[in-house]
Amino acid sequence: MRTDVGKRPLDQRLLGPGKNLARHRTSLRLTAALAVLLLTTAGAAALSAARPASAATSLKSLAEAKGRYFGTAMTQNMLSNSTVTTLAGQQFDMVTPGNEMKWDTTEPSNGSFNFGPGDQIVSFAQSHGMRVRGHNLVWHSQLPSWVSSLPLNQVQSVMENHITTEVTHYKGQAYAWDVVNEPFNDNGSLRQDAFYNAMGSGYIADAIRTAHAADPNAKLYLNDYNIEGENAKSNAMYSLVQSLLAQGVPINGVGLESHFILGQVPSSLLANMQRFAARGVDVAVTELDDRIQLPATSANLAQQATDFSTVVSDCLQVSRCVGVSQWGVGDADSWIPSAFSGYGAATMFDQNYQPKPAYNAVVTALGGSNGGGGGGGSCSATYQETQQWNGVFNGQVTITAGSSAISSWTSTVTLGSGQVISATWNGNPTWPQANVMVMKPASSNSNLAAGQSTSFGFTVKTSNGNYSAPAVTCSTP
Ligand code: XIL
Repeated sequence: MRTDVGKRPLDQRLLGPGKNLARHRTSLRLTAALAVLLLTTAGAAALSAARPASAATSLKSLAEAKGRYFGTAMTQNMLSNSTVTTLAGQQFDMVTPGNEMKWDTTEPSNGSFNFGPGDQIVSFAQSHGMRVRGHNLVWHSQLPSWVSSLPLNQVQSVMENHITTEVTHYKGQAYAWDVVNEPFNDNGSLRQDAFYNAMGSGYIADAIRTAHAADPNAKLYLNDYNIEGENAKSNAMYSLVQSLLAQGVPINGVGLESHFILGQVPSSLLANMQRFAARGVDVAVTELDDRIQLPATSANLAQQATDFSTVVSDCLQVSRCVGVSQWGVGDADSWIPSAFSGYGAATMFDQNYQPKPAYNAVVTALGGSNGGGGGGGSCSATYQETQQWNGVFNGQVTITAGSSAISSWTSTVTLGSGQVISATWNGNPTWPQANVMVMKPASSNSNLAAGQSTSFGFTVKTSNGNYSAPAVTCSTP
């Protein structure tokens, strides 16, 4: 919820002098667009460089209304950046430690455990009312070399001890665990890592049973990448789940990491989620990002909005898809640039933690649209000031279609006192009241695909130094 004391100065500045904050608060709650307006308005540029997203609309509140969570990954270094912690606390209700619960951190040498970094993430999560996904217990990567160089006949007891000690330490604090991470090769065979080499495929059942014994209430997952669509690797995961269930192994879910490349969300994502759900396990999107070859163009960002929106709407269509987590809070802390050279811009928040079109599209996909929704489509609007000089400023409104295509849109721009629009572009304006402009599309930007964005702009003259952001909304016919 809003922390009114903390937010008041920001709201007051955005509303401009002499505006009644209490009256405006109601309308703030009404629309996602207006909420995003608070984030993106350049009128707030005088505030600290990176402003957190508004608490009025949040991914977590919208997800919770749909019985889901919306999570993020956080690493220890992010905890000292208040822009990140504020935004994370406002938007997300689940945290996955990016690295802090992996073997190389938690048991750097045999039998010597370090839960300090993981505990910091857990305590951040708890103090912000967020749940924690434990990540991860058994993985070929970020595995200290002492494990992979053990004699084969010692690996099982070391693995079991590691799982028991870690799960016991976090008992009751981690809602779920990625018990085995990335067990498969892309062709569907099991990776020949230290665990497989010592125990064969049975290490997976053993790991899950060991975790269950340590915390019977934790949801236990297998997590992997490139299993989002139907393919050899997800077929192998499906068969594994089937066989584990047949053996009575307490597996609860499959994590689809979802590290996508722009425009390449598999068309079989929904069907794939459905088949796992039908088999009797939960599914979760555990590490969502969508990488773009840099520099990202506005067309790229519109495609990314479509991609994020597709993933979220697919999850919402599967009752056993329990939630979505993004891997990182924003582009500034994403792992993508260091892991995939030349790529980046993979999350919903930009380098300055401002929301990108993907954020608006996800809000819309989660049902947070301010649009009319009639005709099966909806849209959202965000405002940005692009230029300001003496007594004049230019504003730009970005219109983003929701989870389905729209053939037209209507945006309302309500001006503040002393403000008059002197020019517009990329739309057809009408003026029902002196301070209200209703903008309809030009022929070129009427049709929008799901998640796609367009924009129109205008110049405002202010007679009294009121540069506050006009209110904008979007609706569909
Ligand atoms: C990544 C982290 O984000 C990086 O900081 C680290 O250097 C490598 O691992 N699949 C997973 C995650 O399950 O644990 C990985 O996290 C990303 C791919």
